Amino acid sequence: MRLLSSVAMGRTPITKENFMRSSIRGIVIGAGTMGTNLARLMFRNGMTVTVLDINPDVLAQCHQALQSESNDQQVRFVNDWAEVGECEVVVESVTEDLTLKQRVLKEAEHYVDDATLILTNTSGLPIDELAEVLVRPERFLGAHFFNPADLIPAVEVIPGRLTSANCVEQTIDLLRQLGKRPAVLKQSVPGFVANRIQHALMRECLALLEQGVVGAEALDEIVRYSIGIRLAINGPLRQRDLNGLDTHLNISRYLYRDLDNRATPSSLLEELVAQGHLGRKSGRGFHEWPDDNGETYDRQERALLEGLLALMTDEHN
Ligand SMILES: NC(=O)c1ccc[n+]([C@@H]2O[C@H](COP(=O)([O-])OP(=O)(O)OC[C@H]3O[C@@H](n4cnc5c(N)ncnc54)[C@H](O)[C@@H]3O)[C@@H](O)[C@H]2O)c1
Repeated sequence: MRLLSSVAMGRTPITKENFMRSSIRGIVIGAGTMGTNLARLMFRNGMTVTVLDINPDVLAQCHQALQSESNDQQVRFVNDWAEVGECEVVVESVTEDLTLKQRVLKEAEHYVDDATLILTNTSGLPIDELAEVLVRPERFLGAHFFNPADLIPAVEVIPGRLTSANCVEQTIDLLRQLGKRPAVLKQSVPGFVANRIQHALMRECLALLEQGVVGAEALDEIVRYSIGIRLAINGPLRQRDLNGLDTHLNISRYLYRDLDNRATPSSLLEELVAQGHLGRKSGRGFHEWPDDNGETYDRQERALLEGLLALMTDEHN
């Protein structure tokens, strides 16, 4: 028996028809980088969205970013739970902090129906620790989107120990209606899958920069036009199958002892952050980001992503 039958609870079932009727209502908590694109993803796919943020400036920026393509019926912007109303799904996307997220999730649970799906977009905080504060953890799980959330297809779905099978199924249905490619993890580990891989890659990149083996321009160039482009097409494991596992084993035997295995952040990264070089938002990170560069770069990156995704959808469905 389905533990959380939306029909039995009088909620709108997450079906294609209800998406088309704009009957699926979502709340996005946190109107920042991710929240803005999550709201965009939802209303573009027929959902009715309420965006909640405690910071009025961020809420206004989010409104400004979305107003040219949405109307007041599609997206509402509020700074208080009292204004939120009923919904089928909550996506929590506030600042990455365990205590804050626990507080926000508890608050969400207080205001929404017992059967409403509650998803967290944490980048890697333990799902079971987040669930500890909930009275009904069976309808809660991790749905880790990638930036920009309206474009990048993958979503890591991370059930906690107490998440019901029905909640996982409903989340997968929802994500598919949003045009996503959900991939379910068998257990929750810190950083999930993508951030573990991303950080392993970055640990080695930073070590190579620190040791003076290569500069930032050349490193990006090598990764983009070699492993980057092939990873996008094949993924790491299919790529190894193509190369031959015996060859991979031979290389592993001499290379692993030389790879960076520090358990603390790189000193180069610590220094850059201490000097205020935070990347594009401060004008300098590994690369220089002149003031006028941001929007042009965003437009170009979006166009490239859309082109690449269109090609991949044709080739690899
Ligand atoms: N930025 C990324 O690339 C990325 C990718 C995947 C997942 N994430 C995750 O998504 C979440 C949000 O990240 P972001 O980059 O959008 O951060 P952000 O700082 O841009 O936005 C976070 C927002 O949460 C709001 N907030 C804080 N406390 C709140 C509260 N009590 N109620 C309502 N709103 C509150 C803040 O005002 C802020 O606008 C984090 O968990 C992050 O780890 C980020």
